[in-house]
Amino acid sequence: MTAVPLAPPPPARPTLPCAELHLHIEGTLEVPMVLEMADRNGVVLPTPDEAALRRRYEFTDLSSFLALYYENMAVLRTAADFADLTRTYLRRAAAAGVLHAEIMFDPQAHLARGVPLGAVVEGIAEALDDGARDLGLTTALFAAFLRDRPAAEADAVLTELIALDAPIAGIGLDSAEVGYPPSLFVDVFARAEALGLHRIAHAGEEGPAANVRDSLDLLHAERIDHGIRSMEDPALVERLARERVPLTVCPLSNARLHAVPSLAAHPLPEMLAAGLNVCVNSDDPAYFGGYVDDAFAAVRDTFALDTDALATLAANSVEASFVSPERARDLRAAIAAWRAAQP
Ligand code: ADE
Ligand code: ZN
Repeated sequence: MTAVPLAPPPPARPTLPCAELHLHIEGTLEVPMVLEMADRNGVVLPTPDEAALRRRYEFTDLSSFLALYYENMAVLRTAADFADLTRTYLRRAAAAGVLHAEIMFDPQAHLARGVPLGAVVEGIAEALDDGARDLGLTTALFAAFLRDRPAAEADAVLTELIALDAPIAGIGLDSAEVGYPPSLFVDVFARAEALGLHRIAHAGEEGPAANVRDSLDLLHAERIDHGIRSMEDPALVERLARERVPLTVCPLSNARLHAVPSLAAHPLPEMLAAGLNVCVNSDDPAYFGGYVDDAFAAVRDTFALDTDALATLAANSVEASFVSPERARDLRAAIAAWRAAQP
């Protein structure tokens, strides 16, 4: 009997190309890596059992997540740890369709554990260089200040980053939002601006819409991380649309941290309908159930987004990024090619 040749597999649909702009590198620390690094660095974890650790990934709000996020970071000790973490993310991101990644890290969280800032920066920067060479990825690095720590500490970290000549594109603001308004960080953001650094800030995740406005007006933030609670303020929405202020939305994160009642209740469709410059990101993919391709798939299925809507989200990510005009042209061409390949 002659073998019937199998039909060739259907051509793989190319993954939607995009820029990922809201990503905490420490939030890519997957459970197996937590356990492996704990082992290699002799760190005793509060929850060393894998199954028990995984059971702790049910969050009630931002602070319940941050407690585990900071706890797990204890395993990151050396430049090699930060390089391994970053390399692993970049490989997964490239498979997810990410062509350009703007990545935050939390210097204070590592300094507080006695990890030298030089080791953190060296490890991440080495992996970013490897990602450019091996994966063709472009990247930008942002030092995010913890808003529930004193502003003077952020200022000292900025001084140290400058002294190290750290390859950062800018600064960000993250951690617990409620009770820590943007006004606390006016001076350090002004200093970063004078140094020619880009400025981004988490706002309107759990905190009020006023934090979005104040991040723009007081901190001169060029991009807002999350910003979903802007939708509670129609005048702000009108301004964000008019000024094309980028909002890096993270639907899986918002659902898992109960910033929205469910993914189906996420305001992404309303944000798109209002003409806002929203893009889709993973935030802390090891904690929230997926990388940026998973986030795109989830919003596509939940909101029945068509290919044009997906291409708009991807194009918004390019517009919201800090890439060069030449790189932006390449990214837009890749998105157009993806769109043309869709049925
Ligand atoms: N740090 C890491 N993820 C964060 C988030 N979603 N909000 C604020 N700070 C964070
Ligand atoms: Zn975030």
